[in-house]
Amino acid sequence: MDLKKLLERLSDGCWHSLSELVWELGTDIGSLSDLLRELQSYGLELTADAEGSVSLSSRLSLLADEEILAGLTPVLRSSLVHIELAPVVDSTNTRAMEWLRVGNSGRALFLAEWQHSGRGRRGRSWVSPIAQNLIMSLAWPVDEAGRMLQGISLVVALSLVEGLRSMKLHGTDLLRVKWPNDVWLGEAKLAGILLELYKSQSARDHVVIGIGLNVQLPSGALADFDQAAIDLCSQGNPQIDRNQLVIAVLNSLELNLEKLRVEGFGCFREQWLELDAFRNRQVKVVGHGQPIVGVVSGISDSGALILQTLEGEQVIGGGEIAPSVRPLS
Ligand code: BTN
Repeated sequence: MDLKKLLERLSDGCWHSLSELVWELGTDIGSLSDLLRELQSYGLELTADAEGSVSLSSRLSLLADEEILAGLTPVLRSSLVHIELAPVVDSTNTRAMEWLRVGNSGRALFLAEWQHSGRGRRGRSWVSPIAQNLIMSLAWPVDEAGRMLQGISLVVALSLVEGLRSMKLHGTDLLRVKWPNDVWLGEAKLAGILLELYKSQSARDHVVIGIGLNVQLPSGALADFDQAAIDLCSQGNPQIDRNQLVIAVLNSLELNLEKLRVEGFGCFREQWLELDAFRNRQVKVVGHGQPIVGVVSGISDSGALILQTLEGEQVIGGGEIAPSVRPLS
């Protein structure tokens, strides 16, 4: 019996008797119990009653690839050569890289409800409860990928903000960006982005764009994070349709990546500066070598961070503003 079917049955938030589930899913009680335990280990809150019925503490809106495809712009829909939606994967970025490694190429989308080994930037892990947040990766062919990577990184963050705002959700006026590509809501992290470069001998280079976005975090989850985290539901958005969220983000991403390809990063600079959570604030930048402390004065036309330090102005191409940093002034 597969996990996807069980998730689908439980997603209505109603009570389901174990015997009914055993029958509907064509399994035995032992395998069903194992799967229920597996779902709980992924962060799903299940309640059982004395009569042997189980229910989820709240309804789930599960991802549906056909609904997502139907909502994409015709240009994006027709250009996607592959779409994969798994209930559980190790990491959607890893999955996208594997797909490329076996010789595939073109635009492809990888979605999952849960990751065993979600990866963050700089070796961190990315933890996300099952079927409540957004976990997705895009494989995207790019010319001169090495040169374009920095611009892509920032443009993905801007596209997330734009996509979220188009959904007219509460709290989206508080969205900000943190160099190079975190999305913050107020003073906490809402979404993280992991870019990986795939260089091919025979086909075009690809960038794998991994996006993790907090839609609904369980109440106890915040302690698991190494920095302040926030979700969209806590902003007065109790019912968010995650499929519509994927659609809004992807449509905005496609338009912006195309604009970046044609016009370069310069045309996004002003938008970044308006949304920059740390502009004119003192920060620590970590990445290569010694951390650098300075005041953020802007970004360059290629998306590098401009920092005023005691040694003078520095233009920083790689690294990130320290994850745990709060504005120092
Ligand atoms: C970060 O802020 O450190 C980046 C987090 C990126 C997480 C996403 S979730 C989907 C994709 N798959 C992964 O393993 N990581 C990215």
